[in-house]
This record gives sequence, C-alpha cells and structure tokens, in this order.
Amino acid sequence: MKSPEKSEMKTWRVSRQMLLSSLLALWAVTIGQACGGRPGPHMEVAPETIKTGAGSSGGSGISYQDVKPIFESRCMACHTNIAPKWTDYNAALAYVQNGKLKLRVVTLKTMPQVGSPQASAITDAERSLIGQWADLGGPEFPGSPVETPVGGGGGTATPPPTFAWDAAAKCVGCHGTTATNDPRVPVLAGQRAGYILAQLQSFRADRRTDQVMAQMPAIAKSLTDEEMRVVAAIYSNLTPATPTGTFTGNYDRVRSNLNMCKGCHSPQNGGANYPFLNGQNKAYLIDQLVAFQQRSRTDYIVSDFMNLMANDLSATTIDELAEYLSLMKQGDQFP
Ligand code: HEC
Ligand code: HEC
Ligand code: HEC
Repeated sequence: MKSPEKSEMKTWRVSRQMLLSSLLALWAVTIGQACGGRPGPHMEVAPETIKTGAGSSGGSGISYQDVKPIFESRCMACHTNIAPKWTDYNAALAYVQNGKLKLRVVTLKTMPQVGSPQASAITDAERSLIGQWADLGGPEFPGSPVETPVGGGGGTATPPPTFAWDAAAKCVGCHGTTATNDPRVPVLAGQRAGYILAQLQSFRADRRTDQVMAQMPAIAKSLTDEEMRVVAAIYSNLTPATPTGTFTGNYDRVRSNLNMCKGCHSPQNGGANYPFLNGQNKAYLIDQLVAFQQRSRTDYIVSDFMNLMANDLSATTIDELAEYLSLMKQGDQFP
C-alpha cells in the first residue's frame, strides 16, 4: 500500500464499457480541434497514388465515393442492423470524426469482426484506403469540404484524437489484438484496465523490468498519462481468442493448487488491479511465476505477496498451473 498512484487506481473500479465511453467523451472535450479536410500526420501514402475503380476522379484525393464500395462489400452484411450504417454518408462521417472507424478497421483490425468471412476477404489496401480517407477528415466527394454531420450515426461531431491510435499502434505488433504470436509476450485483450494501467506505471517507474525483451520500460516511458489510460481501456475492451488445446496434467492436483490462487485470480474475485490469468500464454505465466520466485519481479500493489506465493511452487507445479490457466476461457470460474 505504498504506491502514490493508489488513489488513481480507484477510479478504475467502474465498468469497462462506461470507462471507454467516458474516455471518448473526455477526448472530445480536451482534445477537440478542427482538422477537417487536412491530411492526418500519419498518412503513409499520398492519396493521389491510391485509386480504386468506383468514384475516383483524377487526383483530387480519396472521397466517400472510393470507400463506399468497400463498406458495401465488407461491412453491410452485419451493419444493416448494427449501427453505424456505413452506406449512409453522415453516419460514416460521424465515425471518422469520433475516431472509431480508423481505430477498429486500421489500427486494431477488429473490424470486420474477427473470424468473419469479411475479415478474411478485406485486403490491406482496402483497410489502408479507409484509413487515408479518415485522415482526410472523410470528404464526401473528391476535394469537397467536410461538414459537421447532422443526425449522424451516433458519434460525436468532434475530430478524432489522433494520439489514441498512435499509442495503440505501438502495442499491436507485440501484444496483438486477440492473441500474440510470441507465447512469451502477454495477451492484453480482455485484461482488467486497472491492472494494465498499474503495470504500465510500474514499467515507467522502473519498479518492474521486462523479463523477456527488455523493451517495456522504454515503451511505457514514451506514453503520456492520457495515452496509458486510453490503451488500457482499448485493450480491456477487446475479446481475447478462445484457447485451444487439452490439459495433459493431473486435474485433481491442479484443482487443489488453484485453491491458493482462486481468491485473487478467478474472474469473479480480485480487485481492479488483479490480473486475469484465464487464457494467458503458458510460457508467459511460467516466466512470471519464476520471476516472482527469484525476486526479479517484485510486486508493488500487494507488496511481496506473489513472491511468497511462488516461493514453494515446484517447477512441475508451475508448469501444470500455467498450462491449466492458459487453457481456461475468458470468464471461466476456477475449478
Ligand atoms: C460479421 C459482422 C460484421 C462485419 C462484417 C463488420 N462489422 Fe463492424 N461491428 C459488428 C458488431 C457485432 C459490432 C458491435 C460490437 C463491437 O463493437 O465489436 C460492430 C461494431 C463496429 C464499430 C464500432 C461501433 C461503435 O459504436 O463503437 C465500428 C467502427 C465498425 N463495426 C466498423 C466496421 C467496418 C468499417 C466494417 C467493414 C469494413 C465492419 N465493421 C464490418 C459486426 C461486423
Ligand atoms: C517489443 C514488443 C512489445 C511492445 C511493442 C509492447 N510490449 Fe508490452 N510487453 C512485452 C513483453 C515481452 C512483456 C512481458 C514483460 C515481462 O516479462 O515482464 C510485456 C508486458 C506488458 C504488460 C504487462 C502485462 C501483464 O500481464 O502483466 C503490459 C500492461 C504491456 N506490456 C502493455 C503494453 C502497451 C500498452 C504497449 C504499447 C504502448 C506495449 N506493451 C508494447 C512486449 C512488448
Ligand atoms: C492475495 C491475492 C493473490 C493470490 C492468492 C495470488 N495472487 Fe497472483 N497476483 C496477485 C496480484 C495483486 C498480482 C499483480 C502483481 C503486480 O501488481 O505486479 C498477481 C500477479 C500474478 C501473475 C502475473 C500475471 C501477469 O499478467 O503478469 C501470475 C502469473 C500470478 N499472479 C499467478 C498466481 C498463481 C498461480 C497463484 C496461486 C498459486 C496466485 N497468483 C495467487 C494477487 C494474488
């Protein structure tokens, strides 16, 4: 209980959905500034160099006419009943302006919905075109001025906080959106926002070191407080991939060992700063338990509790616990 950031943590004891929507509202108030019609700072390719068939008209930039066919073929199978209706220009513009279109389609790639046929069908060039259109502020026709939508699709009429996707883009390469490629990198999707934020603060303050790649402290130091809150909220709102595989250890033994962990780590227990372990990568869990045991990770929220907890665990027990936890689905109660 020695952390100066503890009172700040309390603010995270709210539902995740509320958190994200209040953050979006906060950006709208604090970050709002006109940028309609200007290219965003992170456009990789000049708009003139990318063309699609429909609606392009000679070099005057990407417009709604270029992206509408993509919306029709890749989005409308679902978004006829789910807002926003991408074939309605004002609805689409509202999501350019609240930042969610680029965030979901380009940065996080969680739209089209992960696992859907549309997600397999959409090309990187199409995602990029949508991103560039969003960077331009979402003009309706080539070169046309961008106007504030009237009665749009539920977004705010405030320009996108560009820092949000810049910050999240720094993480996706290693932490993925639903799973990671490297099993020693932790899955963040669906993790508690309060825990993610606490760990970023620990890395930034050099209270926690990166056991695997030694990069997290520097990455955390590159984020502002606001960006930390935003990425924590974004990740906690993503749905992790469902684990596959079969537990090969001794079920009765692992169940009895998990009794030591249940009170703090089962999804229904623990506080805002307590990590979910369900579905976490096995190799990462082993790394961390060994780090707690060897005192190379010293926890600051509950003092040396995890260090003591890991003290007496044998290598076999750690392996078995890690395997079982890694195979549990998000939200599953401990056995
Ligand atoms: C297979 C169905 C499916 C397809 C295809 C799909 N979506 Fe979605 N979309 C959903 C669902 C379900 C939600 C609501 C849940 C969520 O936010 O994940 C949603 C939500 C969204 C949101 C967030 C809306 C909000 O109010 O926060 C955006 C942005 C979005 N979709 C963009 C797109 C775009 C752009 C495409 C096409 C490139 C697309 N989606 C294709 C199912 C789909
Ligand atoms: C170069 C790869 C890399 C990048 C990029 C990266 N991370 Fe990490 N991250 C890691 C590794 C590896 C660990 C595990 C470190 C350890 O062993 O303690 C980690 C750990 C974490 C943890 C602790 C998770 C837990 O379960 O305790 C958080 C939170 C985190 N990263 C957030 C982020 C955020 C937010 C970003 C983007 C701003 C980011 N990371 C970018 C590699 C990366
Ligand atoms: C009294 C509560 C408590 C108990 C009991 C407990 N833990 Fe923890 N555990 C925590 C807290 C709090 C953290 C976060 C530590 C920090 O802030 O760095 C944590 C962190 C962890 C982590 C690191 C997760 C990550 O994403 O980096 C692992 C792995 C872990 N615990 C496994 C276990 C296992 C296995 C058991 C049972 C043998 C157990 N814990 C028992 C409170 C507890």
